[in-house]
Amino acid sequence: MDMPQPTLIDLKPDLASVEDAVLQGLAAQPKALPAWLFYDAEGSRLFEAICEQPEYYPTRTELAILREHGPDIAATLGEGCTLVELGSGSERKAKVLLRLLRAPDGYIGIDVSAAQLRSATAALARAFPGLPVAGICADFGDDGALPLAELAGDGPLVGFFPGSTIGNMDPGAATGFLAGWAERLAPGGMLVGVDLVKDKAVLDAAYNDAAGVTATFNRNMLVHVARRLDTDLDPDAFAHHAFFDPAASRVEMHLVARRAHTVRVGGHRFQFRAGESIHTESSHKYTVEGFQALARQAGFQPQRVWTDPRRWFSVHYLAAPAGA
Ligand code: AVJ
Repeated sequence: MDMPQPTLIDLKPDLASVEDAVLQGLAAQPKALPAWLFYDAEGSRLFEAICEQPEYYPTRTELAILREHGPDIAATLGEGCTLVELGSGSERKAKVLLRLLRAPDGYIGIDVSAAQLRSATAALARAFPGLPVAGICADFGDDGALPLAELAGDGPLVGFFPGSTIGNMDPGAATGFLAGWAERLAPGGMLVGVDLVKDKAVLDAAYNDAAGVTATFNRNMLVHVARRLDTDLDPDAFAHHAFFDPAASRVEMHLVARRAHTVRVGGHRFQFRAGESIHTESSHKYTVEGFQALARQAGFQPQRVWTDPRRWFSVHYLAAPAGA
Protein backbone atom coordinates (compact mmCIF):
# COMPACT_ATOMS: atom_id res chain seq x y z
CA MET A 1 0.00 0.00 0.00
CA ASP A 2 1.20 3.50 -0.78
CA MET A 3 1.89 5.64 2.25
CA PRO A 4 1.32 9.36 2.01
CA GLN A 5 4.70 10.99 2.60
CA PRO A 6 4.95 13.59 5.36
CA THR A 7 5.33 17.13 4.03
CA LEU A 8 8.70 18.50 5.12
CA ILE A 9 9.59 22.17 4.98
CA ASP A 10 13.22 23.09 5.59
CA LEU A 11 13.61 26.62 6.97
CA LYS A 12 17.36 25.97 7.21
CA PRO A 13 17.85 27.00 10.83
CA ASP A 14 21.15 28.84 11.03
CA LEU A 15 22.79 26.68 13.62
CA ALA A 16 25.24 28.51 15.83
CA SER A 17 28.75 27.26 15.21
CA VAL A 18 30.32 25.01 17.83
CA GLU A 19 33.51 27.06 17.66
CA ASP A 20 31.76 30.41 18.29
CA ALA A 21 29.80 28.93 21.20
CA VAL A 22 32.90 27.42 22.82
CA LEU A 23 35.14 30.47 22.38
CA GLN A 24 32.45 32.70 23.81
CA GLY A 25 31.50 30.34 26.64
CA LEU A 26 35.04 29.71 27.85
CA ALA A 27 35.89 33.43 27.72
CA ALA A 28 32.85 34.24 29.90
CA GLN A 29 33.11 34.67 33.66
CA PRO A 30 31.87 32.34 35.10
CA LYS A 31 32.53 29.89 32.24
CA ALA A 32 29.42 28.38 30.67
CA LEU A 33 28.58 26.30 27.59
CA PRO A 34 25.09 26.09 26.02
CA ALA A 35 23.05 22.94 26.63
CA TRP A 36 22.52 22.31 22.89
CA LEU A 37 26.16 21.15 22.78
CA PHE A 38 25.05 17.98 24.65
CA TYR A 39 23.20 16.64 21.67
CA ASP A 40 25.51 14.96 19.22
CA ALA A 41 24.41 11.41 18.29
CA GLU A 42 26.02 9.98 21.43
CA GLY A 43 24.49 12.72 23.58
CA SER A 44 21.01 11.97 22.25
CA ARG A 45 21.57 8.28 22.98
CA LEU A 46 22.78 9.08 26.50
CA PHE A 47 19.75 11.30 27.15
CA GLU A 48 17.45 8.41 26.20
CA ALA A 49 19.44 6.25 28.64
CA ILE A 50 19.03 8.89 31.40
CA CYS A 51 15.25 8.62 30.92
CA GLU A 52 15.50 4.91 31.77
CA GLN A 53 17.39 5.48 35.05
CA PRO A 54 15.38 4.76 38.21
CA GLU A 55 16.34 8.15 39.73
CA TYR A 56 15.30 10.19 36.65
CA TYR A 57 11.54 10.41 37.26
CA PRO A 58 10.42 13.18 34.80
CA THR A 59 9.97 11.12 31.62
CA ARG A 60 8.09 8.23 33.16
CA THR A 61 6.04 10.52 35.40
CA GLU A 62 4.95 12.70 32.48
CA LEU A 63 3.98 9.64 30.44
CA ALA A 64 2.01 8.27 33.41
CA ILE A 65 0.14 11.60 33.70
CA LEU A 66 -0.73 11.53 29.97
CA ARG A 67 -2.01 7.96 30.28
CA GLU A 68 -3.84 8.41 33.60
CA HIS A 69 -5.60 11.61 32.52
CA GLY A 70 -5.83 10.80 28.82
CA PRO A 71 -9.61 11.09 28.41
CA ASP A 72 -9.71 14.38 30.33
CA ILE A 73 -6.77 15.78 28.35
CA ALA A 74 -8.43 14.70 25.09
CA ALA A 75 -11.71 16.36 26.10
CA THR A 76 -9.88 19.57 27.02
CA LEU A 77 -8.05 19.77 23.69
CA GLY A 78 -11.29 18.97 21.87
CA GLU A 79 -11.96 17.49 18.47
CA GLY A 80 -10.13 18.30 15.30
CA CYS A 81 -7.04 20.08 16.60
CA THR A 82 -3.71 20.11 14.81
CA LEU A 83 -0.93 19.14 17.19
CA VAL A 84 2.26 21.24 16.85
CA GLU A 85 5.17 19.63 18.67
CA LEU A 86 8.06 21.89 19.68
CA GLY A 87 11.42 20.14 19.47
CA SER A 88 9.72 16.96 18.40
CA GLY A 89 12.78 14.70 18.75
CA SER A 90 11.63 11.10 18.93
CA GLU A 91 7.97 10.35 18.16
CA ARG A 92 7.33 8.53 21.42
CA LYS A 93 5.29 11.12 23.35
CA ALA A 94 3.44 12.34 20.25
CA LYS A 95 2.30 8.75 19.65
CA VAL A 96 0.87 8.53 23.14
CA LEU A 97 -0.94 11.86 22.81
CA LEU A 98 -2.23 11.29 19.26
CA ARG A 99 -3.69 7.95 20.33
CA LEU A 100 -5.64 9.78 23.06
CA LEU A 101 -6.93 12.69 20.98
CA ARG A 102 -10.36 12.73 19.41
CA ALA A 103 -10.17 12.93 15.64
CA PRO A 104 -7.01 15.05 15.44
CA ASP A 105 -6.78 17.08 12.26
CA GLY A 106 -3.04 16.77 11.80
CA TYR A 107 0.41 16.73 13.30
CA ILE A 108 3.24 19.20 12.68
CA GLY A 109 6.65 18.49 14.22
CA ILE A 110 9.28 21.20 14.55
CA ASP A 111 12.90 20.23 15.07
CA VAL A 112 16.36 21.56 14.17
CA SER A 113 17.51 18.09 13.21
CA ALA A 114 16.34 17.23 9.69
CA ALA A 115 17.24 13.57 10.25
CA GLN A 116 15.19 13.34 13.48
CA LEU A 117 12.30 15.08 11.78
CA ARG A 118 12.34 12.75 8.79
CA SER A 119 12.36 9.59 10.90
CA ALA A 120 9.83 10.81 13.49
CA THR A 121 7.29 12.11 10.96
CA ALA A 122 7.65 8.95 8.86
CA ALA A 123 7.00 6.80 11.95
CA LEU A 124 3.91 8.87 12.85
CA ALA A 125 2.56 8.71 9.30
CA ARG A 126 2.91 4.91 9.47
CA ALA A 127 1.31 4.68 12.92
CA PHE A 128 -1.62 6.99 12.04
CA PRO A 129 -2.66 6.31 8.46
CA GLY A 130 -4.97 9.05 7.23
CA LEU A 131 -3.54 11.67 9.61
CA PRO A 132 -1.86 14.55 7.74
CA VAL A 133 1.70 14.64 9.10
CA ALA A 134 4.16 17.43 8.41
CA GLY A 135 7.54 18.57 9.67
CA ILE A 136 9.24 21.94 9.79
CA CYS A 137 13.01 21.93 10.12
CA ALA A 138 13.55 25.03 12.27
CA ASP A 139 14.57 26.19 15.73
CA PHE A 140 11.30 26.42 17.66
CA GLY A 141 12.93 29.08 19.83
CA ASP A 142 13.47 31.54 16.97
CA ASP A 143 10.88 34.28 16.61
CA GLY A 144 10.68 33.98 12.81
CA ALA A 145 7.45 33.13 11.00
CA LEU A 146 6.50 29.47 10.65
CA PRO A 147 4.21 28.10 7.90
CA LEU A 148 1.73 26.71 10.43
CA ALA A 149 -1.41 28.05 8.75
CA GLU A 150 -0.35 26.55 5.41
CA LEU A 151 0.22 23.11 6.92
CA ALA A 152 -2.73 22.97 9.32
CA GLY A 153 -6.36 22.15 8.70
CA ASP A 154 -9.30 24.30 9.82
CA GLY A 155 -9.22 23.28 13.48
CA PRO A 156 -7.30 25.04 16.23
CA LEU A 157 -3.55 24.66 16.67
CA VAL A 158 -2.46 23.06 19.93
CA GLY A 159 1.21 23.27 20.85
CA PHE A 160 2.82 20.28 22.57
CA PHE A 161 5.98 21.00 24.57
CA PRO A 162 6.69 18.01 26.82
CA GLY A 163 9.65 16.95 28.95
CA SER A 164 10.06 20.17 30.95
CA THR A 165 12.34 21.41 28.19
CA ILE A 166 10.97 24.84 29.13
CA GLY A 167 12.94 24.43 32.38
CA ASN A 168 16.19 24.93 30.47
CA MET A 169 15.25 28.60 29.95
CA ASP A 170 15.55 31.22 32.66
CA PRO A 171 12.06 32.36 33.75
CA GLY A 172 12.40 35.64 31.82
CA ALA A 173 13.33 33.85 28.62
CA ALA A 174 10.56 31.30 29.19
CA THR A 175 8.01 34.12 29.44
CA GLY A 176 9.18 35.72 26.20
CA PHE A 177 9.22 32.35 24.49
CA LEU A 178 5.67 31.51 25.61
CA ALA A 179 4.44 34.97 24.56
CA GLY A 180 5.59 34.29 21.00
CA TRP A 181 3.78 30.95 20.98
CA ALA A 182 0.58 32.40 22.51
CA GLU A 183 0.38 34.60 19.42
CA ARG A 184 1.14 31.82 16.95
CA LEU A 185 -1.29 29.34 18.47
CA ALA A 186 -4.31 31.63 19.08
CA PRO A 187 -7.17 30.76 19.20
CA GLY A 188 -5.85 27.33 20.20
CA GLY A 189 -3.61 26.52 23.11
CA MET A 190 -0.64 24.62 24.38
CA LEU A 191 0.02 21.47 26.40
CA VAL A 192 3.25 21.92 28.37
CA GLY A 193 5.12 19.53 30.65
CA VAL A 194 6.72 21.24 33.64
CA ASP A 195 8.84 19.66 36.36
CA LEU A 196 7.89 20.71 39.90
CA VAL A 197 9.85 21.83 42.96
CA LYS A 198 10.34 18.97 45.36
CA ASP A 199 12.60 17.55 48.04
CA LYS A 200 16.22 18.42 47.28
CA ALA A 201 17.32 14.80 47.81
CA VAL A 202 15.01 13.61 45.01
CA LEU A 203 16.22 16.31 42.62
CA ASP A 204 19.89 15.78 43.44
CA ALA A 205 19.50 12.03 42.84
CA ALA A 206 17.71 12.58 39.50
CA TYR A 207 20.77 14.40 38.16
CA ASN A 208 23.30 12.09 39.87
CA ASP A 209 22.10 8.62 38.95
CA ALA A 210 24.02 5.76 40.56
CA ALA A 211 24.91 4.22 37.18
CA GLY A 212 26.69 7.46 36.22
CA VAL A 213 24.77 7.99 32.99
CA THR A 214 24.11 11.69 33.71
CA ALA A 215 27.80 12.18 34.51
CA THR A 216 28.75 10.59 31.18
CA PHE A 217 26.11 12.71 29.41
CA ASN A 218 27.51 15.88 30.99
CA ARG A 219 31.13 15.02 30.17
CA ASN A 220 30.12 13.96 26.64
CA MET A 221 29.63 17.65 25.91
CA LEU A 222 33.41 17.98 26.09
CA VAL A 223 33.96 14.80 24.08
CA HIS A 224 31.70 16.33 21.42
CA VAL A 225 33.51 19.67 21.51
CA ALA A 226 36.95 18.00 21.41
CA ARG A 227 35.92 16.03 18.33
CA ARG A 228 34.56 19.05 16.50
CA LEU A 229 37.35 21.56 17.18
CA ASP A 230 41.13 21.87 17.01
CA THR A 231 41.75 21.63 20.75
CA ASP A 232 43.69 19.82 23.49
CA LEU A 233 40.58 19.79 25.73
CA ASP A 234 40.63 16.65 27.91
CA PRO A 235 37.15 15.58 29.07
CA ASP A 236 38.70 13.43 31.81
CA ALA A 237 40.15 16.56 33.41
CA PHE A 238 36.59 17.50 34.45
CA ALA A 239 34.18 16.02 36.98
CA HIS A 240 30.37 15.98 36.85
CA HIS A 241 28.68 18.18 39.44
CA ALA A 242 24.91 18.64 39.64
CA PHE A 243 22.81 20.02 42.49
CA PHE A 244 19.46 21.63 43.24
CA ASP A 245 19.75 25.27 44.32
CA PRO A 246 16.52 25.97 46.25
CA ALA A 247 17.07 29.76 46.17
CA ALA A 248 17.17 29.83 42.35
CA SER A 249 14.72 26.89 42.16
CA ARG A 250 16.86 25.14 39.61
CA VAL A 251 19.15 22.21 39.16
CA GLU A 252 22.54 23.30 37.83
CA MET A 253 24.91 21.01 36.03
CA HIS A 254 28.60 21.84 35.95
CA LEU A 255 31.85 20.32 34.78
CA VAL A 256 34.50 21.00 37.39
CA ALA A 257 38.23 21.12 36.57
CA ARG A 258 39.96 18.43 38.62
CA ARG A 259 43.24 20.40 38.55
CA ALA A 260 44.55 23.77 37.41
CA HIS A 261 45.31 23.61 33.69
CA THR A 262 45.14 25.45 30.40
CA VAL A 263 42.92 24.48 27.48
CA ARG A 264 43.81 25.50 23.95
CA VAL A 265 41.04 26.00 21.39
CA GLY A 266 42.40 26.99 17.98
CA GLY A 267 44.75 29.89 18.72
CA HIS A 268 43.09 30.73 22.05
CA ARG A 269 44.05 29.64 25.55
CA PHE A 270 41.75 29.36 28.55
CA GLN A 271 43.02 29.01 32.12
CA PHE A 272 41.24 26.79 34.62
CA ARG A 273 41.80 26.99 38.35
CA ALA A 274 41.49 23.69 40.23
CA GLY A 275 37.79 23.40 41.08
CA GLU A 276 36.72 26.03 38.53
CA SER A 277 33.54 24.99 36.75
CA ILE A 278 31.87 25.25 33.38
CA HIS A 279 28.10 25.69 33.81
CA THR A 280 26.51 23.38 31.24
CA GLU A 281 22.78 23.39 32.04
CA SER A 282 20.08 24.83 34.26
CA SER A 283 16.83 22.99 34.78
CA HIS A 284 14.28 25.24 36.46
CA LYS A 285 11.66 23.70 38.76
CA TYR A 286 8.32 25.43 39.30
CA THR A 287 5.35 25.30 41.61
CA VAL A 288 2.04 24.85 39.76
CA GLU A 289 1.02 28.38 40.76
CA GLY A 290 4.40 29.83 39.83
CA PHE A 291 4.26 28.37 36.36
CA GLN A 292 0.66 29.50 35.86
CA ALA A 293 1.64 33.06 36.81
CA LEU A 294 4.48 32.95 34.27
CA ALA A 295 2.09 31.64 31.58
CA ARG A 296 -0.41 34.43 32.36
CA GLN A 297 2.34 37.01 31.96
CA ALA A 298 2.99 35.53 28.54
CA GLY A 299 -0.66 36.04 27.51
CA PHE A 300 -1.92 32.49 28.04
CA GLN A 301 -4.89 31.56 30.22
CA PRO A 302 -3.97 28.52 32.32
CA GLN A 303 -7.01 26.29 32.00
CA ARG A 304 -6.20 22.86 33.40
CA VAL A 305 -3.32 21.16 35.14
CA TRP A 306 -2.76 17.47 35.69
CA THR A 307 -0.19 16.00 38.08
CA ASP A 308 0.88 12.63 39.44
CA PRO A 309 -0.16 11.56 42.98
CA ARG A 310 3.21 12.73 44.44
CA ARG A 311 2.94 16.05 42.57
CA TRP A 312 6.41 15.63 41.11
CA PHE A 313 5.54 16.70 37.57
CA SER A 314 2.77 18.72 35.92
CA VAL A 315 1.11 18.90 32.53
CA HIS A 316 -0.63 22.22 31.83
CA TYR A 317 -3.21 23.17 29.25
CA LEU A 318 -2.81 26.86 28.50
CA ALA A 319 -5.47 28.49 26.35
CA ALA A 320 -4.37 31.13 23.84
CA PRO A 321 -7.39 33.38 23.44
CA ALA A 322 -7.77 35.11 20.08
CA GLY A 323 -6.92 38.80 20.16
CA ALA A 324 -5.25 38.60 23.59
C1 AVJ B 1 15.52 17.44 28.53
C2 AVJ B 1 16.35 19.49 29.35
C3 AVJ B 1 14.41 18.55 30.31
O1 AVJ B 1 16.78 19.23 32.31
O2 AVJ B 1 16.01 17.34 33.05
C4 AVJ B 1 18.51 15.37 32.00
C5 AVJ B 1 17.96 17.26 30.34
N1 AVJ B 1 19.91 16.99 31.87
N2 AVJ B 1 19.50 15.13 32.87
C6 AVJ B 1 16.45 18.06 32.15
C7 AVJ B 1 18.77 16.54 31.38
C8 AVJ B 1 20.36 16.10 32.77
C9 AVJ B 1 16.53 17.45 30.75
N3 AVJ B 1 15.73 18.24 29.75
